[in-house]
Amino acid sequence: MIGRLNHVAIAVRNLEASTAVYRNTLGAKVTAPDTLPEHGVTVVFVELPNTKIELLQPHGANSPIAKFLEKNPDGGIHHVCYEVDDIIAARDRLKADGARVLGDGEPKIGAHGKPVLFLHPKDFCGTLVELEQA
Ligand code: CO
Repeated sequence: MIGRLNHVAIAVRNLEASTAVYRNTLGAKVTAPDTLPEHGVTVVFVELPNTKIELLQPHGANSPIAKFLEKNPDGGIHHVCYEVDDIIAARDRLKADGARVLGDGEPKIGAHGKPVLFLHPKDFCGTLVELEQA
């Protein structure tokens, strides 16, 4: 059911400093910052030949990544994102299998302007999983 690895997301405290690490130290192409108020984050994407790295910085008081950064003060891998062809069909199949979909279970529009859903880490090997309709 899942297709390509769309991105690996890393939560960071300082997006500017983290962008500099990827752009200057690692020599990668990094997009301009994009704030997504409905997700409580500001993001940039590191564009690699075979996938992307999403750097996430909290935005606003109730950011879902604030707690993660409290536990991981240096930042860390926050989620992986897999592509699916049909996000509603994927969701319904996973729910029928007993997997927990986070939030109200309805897809939101993600950083690429496409529908996304998040799946409970306890159901997926301790890793928060994002599904994006490719
Ligand atoms: Co993501």
